Amino acid sequence: MNLFYVFLVGSAAALNIPTVEIAPGVQMPLVGIGTWQYNDTVAGAVVASALDIGYTAIDTAFGYNNGVGIGKAIKSYLAKTGTQRSELWITSKVMTGIPGAGNLSMYDLALQNLEDLQLDYVDLMLLHFPCKPTATSCDGSAAFRQEQWKSIERLVTDKKARTIGVSHYCARQLQDIFKVMTIKPALNQVQYHVGMGMAGVNSTDDKKFVDANGVVYGSFSPLCGPCGTKELIDGPLVTSIGNAHNKTGAQVALKWQVQQGIPIIPKTHNPVHQKENIDLFDWELTADEMKQLTLATSPPVGGGPSATDSGDCGIP
Ligand SMILES: *[C@@H]1O[C@H](CO)[C@@H](O)[C@H](O)[C@H]1NC(C)=O
Ligand SMILES: *[C@@H]1O[C@H](CO)[C@@H](O)[C@H](O)[C@H]1NC(C)=O
Ligand SMILES: *[C@@H]1O[C@H](CO)[C@@H](O)[C@H](O)[C@H]1NC(C)=O
Ligand SMILES: *[C@@H]1O[C@H](CO)[C@@H](O)[C@H](O)[C@H]1NC(C)=O
Repeated sequence: MNLFYVFLVGSAAALNIPTVEIAPGVQMPLVGIGTWQYNDTVAGAVVASALDIGYTAIDTAFGYNNGVGIGKAIKSYLAKTGTQRSELWITSKVMTGIPGAGNLSMYDLALQNLEDLQLDYVDLMLLHFPCKPTATSCDGSAAFRQEQWKSIERLVTDKKARTIGVSHYCARQLQDIFKVMTIKPALNQVQYHVGMGMAGVNSTDDKKFVDANGVVYGSFSPLCGPCGTKELIDGPLVTSIGNAHNKTGAQVALKWQVQQGIPIIPKTHNPVHQKENIDLFDWELTADEMKQLTLATSPPVGGGPSATDSGDCGIP
């Protein structure tokens, strides 16, 4: 766990949100605002509120279909405050097999996404899935992933993305990329939260492998939003630890991740919760509290075929 401090060599603007270095000299804020399932209107309002509160990082995706709303919010914030684009961090993701994607290459899809966002570049562009969703399955192969990776490598050489990475990738799928890459994936964004600290490789998308290969492990659903439980918000473990620090259960659940150097993207439209979700850096969980949270086995990974399987490792 102390390794965390090695990563903390920089910090983002405004609120001094600590960062993790995801590629040589590139510092990613440890907390960003999530925007999954929000339409343009809601995403725009959420991003505007988060930026006003002091967030410096935003997470979106072509497949969220909310880039236009987010782009407007960013543009108006920059104009209003005189903040430079370079002081913000934008993560996006591209995938095929979804409405609007046609059969565009990942490179061309990223350009379309940048146009929606009214941005010249993103800080991090991810391949959203290791496969192409169809009506009945998700079709993947080594060749599919390798072609997509080569396509987004061009984003870096053309300065459309500062860094590139993947999402929902398991060890075997990352290895497909390692075979052809000239640029290494900076980050793998997968589901991770309290309850998964002791989980096996098929829950965590093989966290040990990701860490061991120098790819930053990034978390989505840090409060287990789609898991159908509020256990990480008001459950007994996080609440009791929170009481000792005058913090909420959700703050404890999020802190367990950032104290390990894992970047998170909690999602909320509520400004009070937005504030709480970045109020994570002037206090520390004790080693014993970290251990209790790591040993928790609930809630398990959600959304996969079973409580011990995210579904990602089963993709061909
Ligand atoms: C966007 O989502 C909100 C909340 O679900 C809804 O009230 C609104 O009608 C939606 N806007 C559009 C244009 O679909
Ligand atoms: C896919 O690409 C081919 C040519 O490369 C084009 O003729 C076809 O219309 C495209 N299909 C879609 C759905 O965009
Ligand atoms: C506890 O936290 C709340 C909310 O951040 C704050 O208003 C209050 O002053 C804190 N109380 C103590 C004793 O620090
Ligand atoms: C993980 O999933 C893969 C693919 O479904 C399977 O072959 C493997 O046995 C699983 N490993 C464990 C430890 O469950």
